[in-house]
Amino acid sequence: MTVLEVIQRSADFLSKKGVESPRLHVELLLAHLLQMPRMKLYLNFERVLTETELEKLRDFVKRRANREPLQHIIGTANFCGLEFLVNKSVLIPRPETEILAERAWSFLQQRAKEKGQSTALDFGTGSGCLAVMLAKKCPTAKIHALDISSEAIEVARENATRHQVIEQIEFHQGNGFAAFSGKKEFDLIVANPPYISSEEISTLEPEVRDHDPRLALDGGADGLEFYRLLAKESRNWLAPDGYLMLEFGEGQAESIREIFEQQKWIVEAIEPDYTQRLRFLIARRN
Ligand SMILES: C[S@@+](CC[C@H](N)C(=O)[O-])C[C@H]1O[C@@H](n2cnc3c(N)ncnc32)[C@H](O)[C@@H]1O
Repeated sequence: MTVLEVIQRSADFLSKKGVESPRLHVELLLAHLLQMPRMKLYLNFERVLTETELEKLRDFVKRRANREPLQHIIGTANFCGLEFLVNKSVLIPRPETEILAERAWSFLQQRAKEKGQSTALDFGTGSGCLAVMLAKKCPTAKIHALDISSEAIEVARENATRHQVIEQIEFHQGNGFAAFSGKKEFDLIVANPPYISSEEISTLEPEVRDHDPRLALDGGADGLEFYRLLAKESRNWLAPDGYLMLEFGEGQAESIREIFEQQKWIVEAIEPDYTQRLRFLIARRN
């Protein structure tokens, strides 16, 4: 069977199984298998696949048809142009979180210019995508990354090594700020905490519901548990002129503002994602 034939057949199959963008996904799986950029497939449409290649692709396509995320099958996810290792212990980094990453590294770069040095905490680091990007974009900054999951910390460490910023990041495993043994003072705390209400999790797409770790999704009864915690506790870990930058879920903007204003934060901005939905909080200590 040729590359083109296999793409067409597999895309039909995935489409029947309810997978979104089936052709794109087949192409990405095949490109991964053949170790070539996806665009190069187009120059190889007539190439005949070997029996071994076909067998491997069938396995990939079957897994995708069972709604395993593409990124788990190929083992990486792209975030801000870098490839991050991912597995079932970490949330697959989402495109909108790149907006948070950019806001955070711009702030940290500015702070480094003013103070010569800066320090940030990535609360709930998961794959380490935010911590690694902060370290890469702000080479003089010291980054701390914390997560309750030791498996996630392991993946984040691997990503930091892979992107050559392991020396710049200190990892902490534990439940929220209890992960720290001593006093710390950050210029910036950045977080994309779990924000789905416990009840809603069962209604999510199978790729998310069955494959992202529950620890990364579950934000308690109303999804806002971590924002209450951060509103209450994070000021003790921020420099007096420090900033908090958070991602939150669609439709949560008003509740988030209320939670932070009640705790006497100055809400500087609530910003939208690529689809103009409000998704990010930028706040500073009062
Ligand atoms: C939504 S994921 C975000 C991962 C990554 N920062 C990103 O943006 O892709 C939330 C992360 O918070 C971690 N987490 C959940 N509860 C926690 C807690 N009590 N203390 C620290 N981390 C926690 C989860 O393990 C998960 O890695």
